[in-house]
Formats: sequence, C-alpha cells, structure tokens
Amino acid sequence: MCGIVGYIGNEEAVPVLINGLRKLEYRGYDSAGIAVLGGQGLLVRKSKGVLKVLEEKIGEESASGSLSGSMGIGHTRWATHGEPSDSNSHPHTDVAGKIAVVHNGIIENHAKLKAWLEDHGVGFRSETDTEVIAHLIDFHYNGDLLQAVLEALKRLEGSYALGIICESDPDRIIAVRKESPLVIGAGKGENLIASDVPALLEYTRDVYYLEDREVAVLYRDRVEFYNGEGQSAAKELSHVDWDASAAEKGGYEHFMLKEIHEQPKALTDTLRARIKTYAAKSINLEEIGFDASWAKAGRVVICACGTAWHAGTIGKYAFEHFARIPTDAEIASEYRYRNPIHDPADIFIIISQSGETADTLAAMRMARKAGARIIAITNVVGSTLAREADLVMYTWAGPEIAVASTKAFTTQLMCVYLIALQFGLLRGTITETELNGYIGALEQLAGHAAAILADKENIQRFASRQFNKSKVFFMGRLFDYAVSLESALKLKEISYTHSEAFAAGELKHGPIALVDTSTLVVAICTQSALFDKMDSNIKEVKARGAATLVITYEDVACFDKTADEIFRIPRTCDPLTPILSVIPCQLYAYYCAVQRGLDPDKPRNLAKSVTVE
Ligand code: M6R
Repeated sequence: MCGIVGYIGNEEAVPVLINGLRKLEYRGYDSAGIAVLGGQGLLVRKSKGVLKVLEEKIGEESASGSLSGSMGIGHTRWATHGEPSDSNSHPHTDVAGKIAVVHNGIIENHAKLKAWLEDHGVGFRSETDTEVIAHLIDFHYNGDLLQAVLEALKRLEGSYALGIICESDPDRIIAVRKESPLVIGAGKGENLIASDVPALLEYTRDVYYLEDREVAVLYRDRVEFYNGEGQSAAKELSHVDWDASAAEKGGYEHFMLKEIHEQPKALTDTLRARIKTYAAKSINLEEIGFDASWAKAGRVVICACGTAWHAGTIGKYAFEHFARIPTDAEIASEYRYRNPIHDPADIFIIISQSGETADTLAAMRMARKAGARIIAITNVVGSTLAREADLVMYTWAGPEIAVASTKAFTTQLMCVYLIALQFGLLRGTITETELNGYIGALEQLAGHAAAILADKENIQRFASRQFNKSKVFFMGRLFDYAVSLESALKLKEISYTHSEAFAAGELKHGPIALVDTSTLVVAICTQSALFDKMDSNIKEVKARGAATLVITYEDVACFDKTADEIFRIPRTCDPLTPILSVIPCQLYAYYCAVQRGLDPDKPRNLAKSVTVE
C-alpha cells in the first residue's frame, strides 16, 4: 500500500522525508520518491526498488547541498496502474515540473481525464492514474494553489490521499483525503503529513486525522483546514500514545487483525476497478484485454495453492452456477506432476496473492506449453505470474503482511465472481437485468462485511470459551463446503488446532467416527435449498456430544433450536456468501491463536510466499 510523507519546517526536508518513508516500509512498496522545494526550485528524485536505491541516487546531491529545501513530499509506491518503474514512481508533476503530487488511492475516471487532458495538449510521462492529478491542478492553477486543488478535486472520482507542493506557492503543503488515510502531525515550527502515524512519531505525537474530503493547508507555524467547498473548518487535535510497533499496525494488536478489518475497503477497491457505472452498470474487463472470445472456452481450469486454491474451489461453483461452463479447481502442486488432459480451448485462471508461488507458476507454465490461454488473479503488480499471464486481474487488497491470508482471499473471490458473471453474460446464461442485480449485490458486500466486523466482540467471546478444543471440524454444502476448507486452514495454521473441513453430506461416510465430546463442529449454513439437510447433519454431530456453532443469515430461524451458538451474517444471494461467511471464521481463528498465546502474524514453519518446492 502506498505511503505518503510531507514536511514543512526549518530543517532540511530530505532526511525527514527519507526517515518517514522508512517508517512506512512495513506497508509494502516497490518504488520510492521525493520532491523538495528550496533555493533551486522544485526537485524530484525517484526510483524503482527499495528505499536504499533512492538513498544511493540522492546521496551525493544531498550531501553537497544541491538537493536542499525545508519543505517536501515523499512516497513509497505499491504499483496499481503501471509496472514498478522509475517513471511510474511518485511524485508526479505537471508538464513544467512546477507542481508535484504524491497519491495513495485509485482515480477511477483517470482514463477519461487523461483523454480530456490530452485533447488539451497535455503529454503524459507515466502509466499511472496519479499523473492526471498534477496536470489537472496545473490546468486550474491561476496563482492560488488551494483554489486549483479544490477545482481539480471536483473532477476526480475514486479514492485519494494527496500531498501537493508548488514552486510558485513555496510556503505551504496542501493535503487532502477521500477514502484513503492521511494524518497531519502538528510540531513546533514544523508540520508534517503521513499516511500512517509511525512516520510522525519521531517528530510529534499531536495529530489531526483528516476526514473524507477535508483539505489541510500546512504552513511552518500553523495548519488550516477547509471542507471540500473551500470553507474554513475547525479540527480537534488528538494525542497519540501508541508505541511504534502498535502504530505500524494502525492500533491493532496484529497485522492479521488489521488486514481482516481492511476487507470492506479492499472489496470496494477491487470491485470499483472493474465496474462501469455510466448508463446501466456492467463489468469492465475490456480494460484488462478480455473480449468475448475468452467466454467461448470449452472448459475453465482454476489452478492455485492453499487459500488461493480455496478461492478457486469457490470459483468452480461460481462458474458452473453463473456461466454453466465445465470448471475444474486444481491444486497446483498436484496438477504439475499429473498427466492432465489438455485442450487448447481451455482457459486457465491462475490465482496467487504473491504471484510468486513455485508450484502455481509451474502449473501455469505447463498449461501455457499445452496452448491454453491464461488469466492471472494476483495482488502483486509486476510479479512473475502477472508478467507471464495473457491477462491480469489485480486484487486491490494492498500488501498482505500476516502469513495467514485474509483480505487477499476475499478480494480473489470478488475477482472470480466478476469473471464468472461476465462469462455468464457472454454465454447467455444470465441476462443483463440479472447481471445488474448481481452487481448490486456485490456492491453491498463491503457494507455487510463491515457489519460483521462490528460484531467481532461476539466472536471473541465465543473463542475465549472454545479456543482449547482438541478438534474443530467445519462442514457445509456447496459454497459453504469451500468456505469450510478455508476456515479449517485458517484455524490450523495460526492456532495449531487440529481442524478439518468436510462436505456435510460426507459426514456419515467416515468423518463422523471422529466426533465426540471434545469436538466443536462449525456448520456453515447459507445455501437456502439445503438448510434441512444441514439441520440433520448438525443433529447427528450433537447426538455424538459435539458442541455446535452455526453461521447463517440474520433472518434464518431454522437452526435456533439445533445449534448451541449462532453467528449471523447479513443476507445476500447464496452464491456470494463466501465473502461474508469466511469473516467470522477468520476472526475465530485469530482470537483462538491469541487466546493460546501465539503470534498469529508469524505462525511456526510457515512462510508468506512459498517460492520453492
Ligand atoms: O501467494 P499465494 O496466494 O500463491 O500463496 C498460496 C498459499 O501459500 C497461501 O494461500 C497459504 O495457504 C496461506 N498461508 C494461507 O493463509
């Protein structure tokens, strides 16, 4: 996730900016840059790679004083639009290089704005969505930077946190945010901006948290606030007393909990990037190179490992349901050593958070050799998977730091649903009206996820009673079975509890022999046509002494008498429930690990990215 810093004061800005960026490294990034305003005018230095590369680049200039100034902005970039590269790194400037901008977020209408600016003679130097902002501000600049920013903001759709400086307006930094975080640090004779508190702690613990559409104008001795209409606004100062490590986690105890809570935003970002909102809503996959020919495939094969394979398993159900196309979900480590039957008309969808998993890449290369066309779903721009696939659909989850995958999983699901729905439309298995309904349902999921998270104390209380079970089994049917697989993996990997997932109908074919009074059975029940069947399965395990937890919709009463405990989730259409029903299971796994005194972010024996066999 991008990191922003900014400084205006009486010290040299370069060391403060670099220091601030270093404090934001934990957010993940692929390039870095700074813009400094001083006697030599506005100077921008940026480069692909880690901060050290940038430091080496500016080392001499900075030591000799040729890169000097007491105000500036800096940025670490996590690529979204365009590969990691020097030219795509921030800050971006207007054509004359007099206005510099750093940005965190997504400008959804950037393509339209870019075309419009090009019609007005503006030449672009990067593939980013951010560059339009610098040009737009310049377009409106008439001697007053604040006015120009306010005018430019009127044209922007999407999310942004921005830091802006201008050579002809040399004594202030303008900061503004909408749906992306930005904090203002109030110092003595100096003021700062940062996308997160850790970058500020060395300088001040007095901060202003910017609200959506608020604008801050930072001078050396004061900060002024305005609303989006340019009217002056009052703001309350907050004092931060977190230590540095808590600050990195945004006040959450662990990255995993932070990432679980980031899901509503990650879902919205992933969906927004792919929805056309003008006229009737539709799915925009043309931008990633998808056309009707892809939907003519004879079969879809989804290949991945671990959590990503669980997303693929849900994908199999979704493709069959929405697009009526034969679909297989394959474990990459098995697939690569099998002797599978290939057909050049197959479409492969390869899912990987990191885009670097060795088995997944091997399976992709095998499919490629057999002549298949490949769609990658990944979280990392410029990863090997992204580079080698024919089409890439990015999950907009931002960096996932905890080993246990949470927000990557739900955003992978969002991508899978969008592709399956588009296949359905093109294959005539769903109508445009139905598609509109499903898009509406997808749009509601972020709000529903937030509602589940708001009820997390309930899950925490449950975990505090049930964290020491020797066996925890998850069961469900159809989509709920696939969520059971993911929930059991989450619990075992971070709490070391023996947990398994069963298709509920398989219970009596063997697994029920394991059920006794030491067992907790979590029944995921969101497939409405199968509620009766699930109710019978729950009764079967209860009869053998198991404790039972049911996860179902808020308006379903049929498990009230059977289940010992019920977690309720908002209603959506049944095939889309995995994005919601997995959240209580992620939280349950997290709280069990914490109750057992374990560090959920760093489970034993596991690595975040499995780049070797
Ligand atoms: O980076 P990838 O999505 O390819 O990683 C695949 C698995 O290694 C990963 O999902 C793993 O199972 C996670 N630790 C699950 O939480």
